[in-house]
Amino acid sequence: MSVEPTTPALAPHLGEPLPADLLDGGELLDRDELRELQLTRLQWTLRHAYDNVELYRRKFDAAGVTPDDCRSLDDLARYPFTTKADLRDTYPFGMFAVPMDQVRRIHASSGTTGKPTVVGYTEDDLSMWADVVARSIRAAGGRPGHKVHISYGYGLFTGGLGAHYGAERAGCTVIPASGGMTARQVQIIQDFRPEIIMVTPSYMLTLLDEFERQGIDPRSTSLRVGIFGAEPWTEAMRSEIEERLDIHAVDIYGLSEVIGPGVAQECVETKDGLHIWEDHFYPEVIDPVTDELLPQGESGELVFTSLTKQALPIIRYRTRDLTRLLPGTARPAFRRMEKVTGRSDDMIILRGVNVFPTQIEEIVLRTPGVAPHFQVQITQRGRMDHMSVAVEARPGAAPEQRAAAAAAIAKGVKDGVGVSVEVTVVEPDTIERSVGKIRRVRDLRAT
Ligand code: DLL
Repeated sequence: MSVEPTTPALAPHLGEPLPADLLDGGELLDRDELRELQLTRLQWTLRHAYDNVELYRRKFDAAGVTPDDCRSLDDLARYPFTTKADLRDTYPFGMFAVPMDQVRRIHASSGTTGKPTVVGYTEDDLSMWADVVARSIRAAGGRPGHKVHISYGYGLFTGGLGAHYGAERAGCTVIPASGGMTARQVQIIQDFRPEIIMVTPSYMLTLLDEFERQGIDPRSTSLRVGIFGAEPWTEAMRSEIEERLDIHAVDIYGLSEVIGPGVAQECVETKDGLHIWEDHFYPEVIDPVTDELLPQGESGELVFTSLTKQALPIIRYRTRDLTRLLPGTARPAFRRMEKVTGRSDDMIILRGVNVFPTQIEEIVLRTPGVAPHFQVQITQRGRMDHMSVAVEARPGAAPEQRAAAAAAIAKGVKDGVGVSVEVTVVEPDTIERSVGKIRRVRDLRAT
C-alpha cells in the first residue's frame, strides 16, 4: 500500500504575519524592553570577556576602559574593536572564556589564507543558537511538521549543523543532506518531498540545473521556501530562483565568529532585508576607514557584539560586510540590515574603481541568452589590470544571441560600474559549479 505524502498547508499562510502563538519570548518584547535587556546583557558580556579572556583585558586596558564604564548602550562605542586577526593570533582557543570542559562543540571557518578561525559553544550557546535559527525558520514561513532539506555543508562549517539543530528546535523534520552528490539530492527532494530547503544560493543553481538535466520541472517539486545565505546574492538572483523553482526565496545571514547562521533573517511576508535578532547580537555600522560610528540608514561596515554568548563572547567584531541598518518592519522591535551585497574582502579595485562580484551578477542575470553561471578573472597586462568575465550560454542560445549577450554585459558593466571588461560567452556546463560557498573571482595579479 502506498501512502500519499501529506504536505502541511504551508502556502496559504505565506505572506501573512506569524501568528502570535508562534512568536518566542524575545520577539514579544517592545523596543524599550529590548533596549533594557540589551544593556543588562551587554554589561554582563563586557565583564565576562574582561575577566576571562586575556586579549580583551589587554585591549580594554590599552583603551583605558573597564566593563564598569558601560552605563548605556551608547557607551559601547568606547570599547575597542575585535578583528579576525585577533582570533588568528590567539589560535586555536585563546579567546575562549570558559574552561574547555564546558565547551560542547567547536566549529572553524577556513578563510582563504592562513589559519582558520576557531569558535566554541557551551551547552547554553548551542541552545540559544538553535533558538535563533528556529526563529529564523518560522520567519521564513516554516512551521512544525514541515520537512527541511539542509544542503549547507555539515562539518566544521557552521551552516549544516547550525541549520540542523534550528530546524529540529522549530519542530520540523530534518533531512541532513549536506553539500555534494547533487544527483542524489535531487532524488531525495523528489522522494522525501520537503517543503523547505536551506542551501547557498549558488548551490541552489547547481541543484536547479540537475533537476532540468534529469528532465524534472523544478516548479513541480514540493519545495515552497528556500532559506539562502552564507554568501552574497542579489535581488536578480532572488527573482531567478523564485521563478525557476516556484518558491519564496528569503535571506539568512550569519558568521561563525558571532554564532553561525541565524544572526539575522528576512521575513517571508515582507522580503525587505533581514531582521537582526538583537536580543542576542548587537549591531553597529561604522565607517570602515575612519572607524567612526554611523547613524541608522548610512552604509558602512557591520560590527557585532554578542550579548549572551558564554564560550566565545565577541566584542565589536568587524565583519567586513557592507550594509546599513534600518528600522524594523515585520518584527518592529528588531532593526533590519539591508541585504549584504558585498564584503570589503571581495571588492576588486580595478584601475581605481571599486567593483563587487554582485554588480556583475545583476548584469549577467538580466541579460537574455546567458545562464546565471559566470566567473571573473583579474590579470595584469603590462602595468594595467585587466578584468574578464566568462559567462555560460543558455543551452540552445544561437551564436548571434551569444554575441549580443557578450556586448550587452560589457556595456552594462561599463555604464553601470564604470570599468571596461572583456566578456566571453562560453559553452553550457563549462563553468565550475558551486557545492557550497561560491568563489566567483580569480585574481591572478602578482601580489
Ligand atoms: O557562512 C554562516 C552561515 C551559514 C550563514 C549558512 C548563512 C547560512 P562563515 O563561514 O563564518 O559563516 O562566513 C560568514 O559569509 O561575514 C558574510 O560575508 C557571508 N554571508 C553569510 N550570510 C550571508 C548572506 C557562514 N545572507 C560570512 N548574505 C559573512 C551575504 C553572507 N553574505
